[in-house]
Amino acid sequence: MRIAVVGKGGAGKSVIAGTTARLLARDGKRVLALDSDLLPGLSISLGSGPDPVDPPLNQAAEKGENGRWRLRQGVNVVGAVKRYTTEAPDGVRLMQIGKSGKEGIQPIMGSINAYYKMVHRLRDAKTFRDWEMVADLPAGPRQVAFDYAPFAETYLVVVQPGSQSALTARRVAKIARMRGGTEVRFVANRVKGKRDTAHVERLIGEQVFWSLPADEGVAEAERLGIAPIDHVPDSPTIAGIGELVAALASLEGQGQPMKSSNGVSS
Ligand SMILES: Nc1ncnc2c1ncn2[C@@H]1O[C@H](COP(=O)(O)OP(=O)(O)OP(=O)(O)O)[C@@H](O)[C@H]1O
Ligand SMILES: [Mg+2]
Repeated sequence: MRIAVVGKGGAGKSVIAGTTARLLARDGKRVLALDSDLLPGLSISLGSGPDPVDPPLNQAAEKGENGRWRLRQGVNVVGAVKRYTTEAPDGVRLMQIGKSGKEGIQPIMGSINAYYKMVHRLRDAKTFRDWEMVADLPAGPRQVAFDYAPFAETYLVVVQPGSQSALTARRVAKIARMRGGTEVRFVANRVKGKRDTAHVERLIGEQVFWSLPADEGVAEAERLGIAPIDHVPDSPTIAGIGELVAALASLEGQGQPMKSSNGVSS
């Protein structure tokens, strides 16, 4: 399973990406979680601890004589996943682009360049053929357009019941589909019943693949800085993400969208 989670700011991308990665790892899969958001999010929902000020991938790049960033000699994608990722709970490996800090993105320019080069090598690396990859992209269409998750076979477009979220979702989906060979599936998040799902479907003009219920425990986990899967493992949202992952797994290779949405306790 190789997915990129995209959508409008605050839609629930990091919660879904982080929980998905943890659930896949618990299922015995080798999982690479990828965080290309310059702002915090995935590490909290994964439960991997604070983001490093100096991201490991900074070590993978150097500036050449021409002033341009390049990978340091001997750095390849297999070595990079071994050396420049960190371990998250359940054995998930986490690759991060780095966070924008007090001095902006200047201190992480090496990491940003190395990250972009690495993601473009992941798809074809034989070593990772049986790995699951889950990428949490920052809000909006920019990284979708600039292909920050070229390994992704499925784009999960997260949408909340609301017109702005739906508008972003439609735009992001359109750009993702331009890549070709990519499945785009809409996930309605924080829905409060079947009517919310129907509302989202009206707004996006397409079927919702899966609906995830709103749950105060998930929001509370965020306030406490704890991964939702650790704070409220029995939450309906976590159960819903589990069902979503199972549905995606069962579709793998079939290339068919689900007929009906699910996952909401009515
Ligand atoms: N199903 C849900 N029920 C309740 N709260 C939720 C749910 N999903 C996400 N949240 C909460 O909504 C907020 C945004 O979630 P999250 O950080 O995953 O969104 P995001 O799309 O990654 O945001 P950003 O664009 O800032 O990266 C968080 O406080 C999170 O706990
Ligand atoms: Mg996020």
